[in-house]
Amino acid sequence: MCGIVGCASSNGPASGMLVEALKRLEYRGYDSAGVAILDPDSADPIHTVREVGKIRNLEAKLAGVEIRGRTGIGHTRWATHGRPSQENAHPHRDPTGAVVVVHNGIIENYLEIRRRLADQGAEFSSETDSEVIAHLIARNYDGDLAAAVRTSVRELAGAYAIAAIHKSEPDLVVGARQDSPLVVGIGDTSNYLASDVPALLPWTNQVLYLEDGQVVAVRPESVAVTDQDGNPVPGEVVEINWSPEQAEKGGFPHFMLKEIHEQPTTVSDALLGRLAVDDSEVVLDGLGLDADGLRNISRIALVACGTSWHAAQVGKFYLEQFARIDVTVEYASEFIYRDPVLDGNTLCIGISQSGETADTRAAMRRAKDEFDCHVLTICNVAGSSMAREADGVVLTHAGPEIGVASTKAFTGQLVCLLLFAVRLGQVRGTIPAETTRELCRGLRGLPQELEKVLRTSDAVKAVAEEYYESRDFLYIGRGVNYPIALEGALKLKEISYIHAEGYPAGEMKHGPIALIDDGMPILAIATQGRTYGTIAGNVEEARARGGKIIALVTPGDDRVAAAADQVLVVPRVHEALTPIVNIVPLQLLAYWTAVSRGTDVDQPRNLAKTVTVQ
Ligand code: F6R
Repeated sequence: MCGIVGCASSNGPASGMLVEALKRLEYRGYDSAGVAILDPDSADPIHTVREVGKIRNLEAKLAGVEIRGRTGIGHTRWATHGRPSQENAHPHRDPTGAVVVVHNGIIENYLEIRRRLADQGAEFSSETDSEVIAHLIARNYDGDLAAAVRTSVRELAGAYAIAAIHKSEPDLVVGARQDSPLVVGIGDTSNYLASDVPALLPWTNQVLYLEDGQVVAVRPESVAVTDQDGNPVPGEVVEINWSPEQAEKGGFPHFMLKEIHEQPTTVSDALLGRLAVDDSEVVLDGLGLDADGLRNISRIALVACGTSWHAAQVGKFYLEQFARIDVTVEYASEFIYRDPVLDGNTLCIGISQSGETADTRAAMRRAKDEFDCHVLTICNVAGSSMAREADGVVLTHAGPEIGVASTKAFTGQLVCLLLFAVRLGQVRGTIPAETTRELCRGLRGLPQELEKVLRTSDAVKAVAEEYYESRDFLYIGRGVNYPIALEGALKLKEISYIHAEGYPAGEMKHGPIALIDDGMPILAIATQGRTYGTIAGNVEEARARGGKIIALVTPGDDRVAAAADQVLVVPRVHEALTPIVNIVPLQLLAYWTAVSRGTDVDQPRNLAKTVTVQ
């Protein structure tokens, strides 16, 4: 949901850095972009350039323009208020042009502020909620930009990460945050601001996470954090162990394909140090609960959105099967407004790639503040809002995920949920030692099995080329693979724009089978397991009604394969691990279909990677 960057440098112009950093944040929004650079030697000291569309359009506009300033801010937008246009693109300025800001988030009371300022004669040049921030800062400015920002944000209701510059303070960028992420990058002779760490990796791996309510003054040689009253706050600088290359395509045509292919490595990273050498137990640090604490949990509420919600659905199977505990799975956006029955013995687990999703954060907060739950997060970004706010953290260790469609973070979430279910089963005495050993051994072998699946990419591509013009797709699965049908369908719709539905195969007869006509593609997850027999029957029923069956099967299958038009074979693994193996061909199917349709794989229309608004 919009990406913002800032730079106060003592060596060299800021514009190149700002554009490069924005490209690394483009997954957050890409309908328009802009930069504002302070050049004190110029007659008009703040030079603003904005353009509709992707950052390459902004880059083209900047080409040939020499902007020498070393301090600046930038923005890539995901429109919330006002259509994508040059006027609505950030940065925004006050009418005198003294103050320029970029903003990520939503200012809920902007209309009220706008009306009040308009009554006092202010004129606005955009339809955005963000422009009022520049007006407020300019009005409150009295020679100290950080102080003006502190005073101004008191008037704002809603979520914001802001970066602001003032024409009279040429070496300074001021940042502030409330419910939207903002990190400060610490360099040798330059310091930075960004919505997310990957934006800063080429320049520094030393970062300071700004907390809600804090304001930071970033200069080339210093970084000063204060609370909203101006009291200095000692910020903790942490070292990030992601490399800049991890946030680059590494020879793949798209981030999504690269991230799909990284899964053998990311799964192995998620397991690192978490399996006992003799496979007798799972070791999970950072839960914030000892064995007694874990034993006292009487139920679990999983909260998440989108793909992470699908991971939660698989997690429910794991927790029920191995830890024999009552589990509910909630859309975080619904959980916030319901009347759930939770108490201090409920464990709430928020699952999130980014650790910043507004709904999931709000759900976790509610579980903690209103119901006194112990709150854990399974998330991919150390230092994210959720990782800092939760009582315990299990990191998925998938590395930066840039493609908007989540892939490697999902398989990392499944691994972590399984590890947690086994750990909980151990302390509750509900998992037999032999099952733990089988699962640990299976997990260890998983990276090699995923390598085998990736080698079938060409076969998946051939299927995609057969069906890429279809209007609709059905995905069916049962049991632990029903959520994989949902996730497969989500992947397809979000990047190829083909309408796709995921169903539990047993539900077909209760309505959706009416959709099947000649040539409708049906992806059936029919790998070996306890539901194989029934899903084989469902495949035959779909086939009899003219459906084209693409079947995911294990080696040696003859029944489903005989009824299928296309067969994709995945290796046989422990049934609990089948979701982690089975999702990979579905990710590839979505990818190759999108490529055949010529859509923008990494930045599909209307989407953004990190959803920091509710
Ligand atoms: C789909 C996708 C989204 C996210 C959802 C939650 O491919 O990426 O559905 O899963 O927006 O995001 P996180 O996991 O960051 O909380």
